Amino acid sequence: MIKVAYTSRTGHVEKIIGKLGLTDALKINDGTEKVDGEYVIFTFTTGKGKTPKQVESFLAANPGVKAVVGSGSTAKSHIETFNFAAENISKAYGIPIIAKVDGVGTEEDMVLIKAALEKM
Ligand SMILES: Cc1cc2nc3c(=O)[nH]c(=O)nc-3n(C[C@H](O)[C@H](O)[C@H](O)COP(=O)(O)O)c2cc1C
Repeated sequence: MIKVAYTSRTGHVEKIIGKLGLTDALKINDGTEKVDGEYVIFTFTTGKGKTPKQVESFLAANPGVKAVVGSGSTAKSHIETFNFAAENISKAYGIPIIAKVDGVGTEEDMVLIKAALEKM
């Protein structure tokens, strides 16, 4: 299965990684981490639809990104920029979005994401 790199600020993405059983996933803290070859990136959205800075740095330094999974919020304050980090990354790198989940996601989300990762 393809490698996974992720970042998490308040723990939602970390929980998703746990629910998927991705024990080898690489946690991005400051964006200086390195991954060899192809990988899928998991990220939250910050600001008003912004990609976290550490994710931007990581993607710029690690050219093998193949797909993205986003965790955002459907709360009123975020709905207009729901999962824009995943959208931004998809556009910038020309890669598909596997899923855009709300918070920690549903069991259906996990089944879909797992199936997509297993195919890669
Ligand atoms: C300051 C702040 C800004 C946010 N902005 C957005 C946003 O623009 N769009 C969105 O979908 N979610 C937004 N969110 C929600 C987070 O992306 C969402 O809660 C995510 O699950 C957090 O993942 P984490 O717990 O792994 O850090 C924002 C959250 C915070 C605290």
